[in-house]
Amino acid sequence: MTAKDTFKTIDELAQALQGVGYFAERRLITAVFLSLKLERPLLLEGEPGVGKTELAKALAKILGRPLIRLQCYDGMEQREALYEWNHAAQLLHMRAAASQPAGASPEDIEREVYQKRFLVKRPLLEALQTAAPGALLLIDEVDRADEPFEAFLLEYLGEYQVSIPELGTIKAEVAPVTILTSNRTRDLNDAVKRRCLYQWMDYPDRERELAVVRSQVPEASAQLTEQVAEFVGRLRSQPFSSAFQRAPGIAESVEWAKALVALDTLTLDPEVVQDTVGILFKQREDIAAITPLLNDLLAPAPSAL
Ligand SMILES: Nc1ncnc2c1ncn2[C@@H]1O[C@H](COP(=O)(O)OP(=O)(O)OP(=O)(O)O)[C@@H](O)[C@H]1O
Ligand SMILES: [Mg+2]
Repeated sequence: MTAKDTFKTIDELAQALQGVGYFAERRLITAVFLSLKLERPLLLEGEPGVGKTELAKALAKILGRPLIRLQCYDGMEQREALYEWNHAAQLLHMRAAASQPAGASPEDIEREVYQKRFLVKRPLLEALQTAAPGALLLIDEVDRADEPFEAFLLEYLGEYQVSIPELGTIKAEVAPVTILTSNRTRDLNDAVKRRCLYQWMDYPDRERELAVVRSQVPEASAQLTEQVAEFVGRLRSQPFSSAFQRAPGIAESVEWAKALVALDTLTLDPEVVQDTVGILFKQREDIAAITPLLNDLLAPAPSAL
């Protein structure tokens, strides 16, 4: 079965994702569903720690496809993404061929060393050449790579193929399910965006955050889990969010709940928040900014008054 036909409905896909511990809002699941149906790459943009990379991992699991990951960074070169020649093996082959009594001509030897067996596949090529059911290629943090690299991706994103000068065009037998993520440290090229479906991933609502924390930190009491979700939700909302440079993501909520359990915390109070605030915030200014707000952040919700 191709990725196109694995899930008949959006609900089926949502359930499968939940089955591997991934909780997503309807809009995101719709985008994933369409990207599978239309065989188009999906570009996920959003704040750190909202579950972009995790979605690709969960999707690979439910599709039964190997996850092939290309982690982007500034200065990344094509050969790290696509292929490189195994120079050592090429050299050995040339030496061996040249030492034969009835040695091959230099032209023959040159042709021989540019065969597939001397090619070292990197993630893009590996994804294109993965046999059925095909691979899931995660091009992670594409905003960290530079613009020439983005331009290089266009052929892959548009046609699931790449051109190798010595070998010609290599086209996917099975289109890899392709997920790109970006933290939006810079705007991506329009040509890249046009070839992808796009989804902005926001911080979760309270219910979804509760579901994630419950599923990943089952040892936390129901009361503590709710307090964590309420507290982190408040940090991300006005008027509190404007006091901070960067709000915590779902990843931080999960870590925080684990830390609170490790400290045998039954209920949140200013002291335990102060002691563990380094899990929620990684900026000195944010850590300083939370102290005067603690009483308000911990005040009972208006509905509970
Ligand atoms: N919807 C979700 N369902 C279940 N777990 C989630 C979800 N979103 C986030 N998580 C948890 O948060 C952690 C961090 O998420 P992830 O690494 O995917 O974030 P990200 O958006 O890729 O962040 P970054 O931009 O920093 O790479 C995951 O390991 C997972 O435990
Ligand atoms: Mg990530």
